[in-house]
Amino acid sequence: MGIDIGIAKKDREAIAKGLSRLLADSYTLYLKTHGFHWNITGSMFNSLHLMFETQYNELWLALDQIAERIRSLDLAAPASGAQFAKLSSIKEETGVPEWRDMVAQLVEGHETVARTAREVFQLADKASDQPTADLATQRMQAHEKTAWMLRSLLA
Ligand SMILES: [Fe+2]
Repeated sequence: MGIDIGIAKKDREAIAKGLSRLLADSYTLYLKTHGFHWNITGSMFNSLHLMFETQYNELWLALDQIAERIRSLDLAAPASGAQFAKLSSIKEETGVPEWRDMVAQLVEGHETVARTAREVFQLADKASDQPTADLATQRMQAHEKTAWMLRSLLA
């Protein structure tokens, strides 16, 4: 059965494309944060190990929200590592950086996702897609707050 929610097909497609990039960024940052939780060493171990856990759990829940918004627009959500690698603006980490570098990479990652969410907001706003605009706003808020907390560790 066809979809008729008052958003033109081309707008739904453009928004879903933006949300797919947001999903890919969030997934890449999720994986990076979880890896840093595992591999962190040094005097900051306890606080960063726990801080990263809070952050990857928040990112994991966000993935489902973003993917299900794409589905609500009647488009398919990307769900493979290959698609995420292609769509993501965040570079993966294959090594084990020193804790300060981990934190700096995560600041950069959260800022990147916030910028992508901001682009999604513009697309959604233009098409009167309030649920996507709301989700993009929530994601900007979460990423900007986390970026601030991580940035403060390096001050
Ligand atoms: Fe753990």
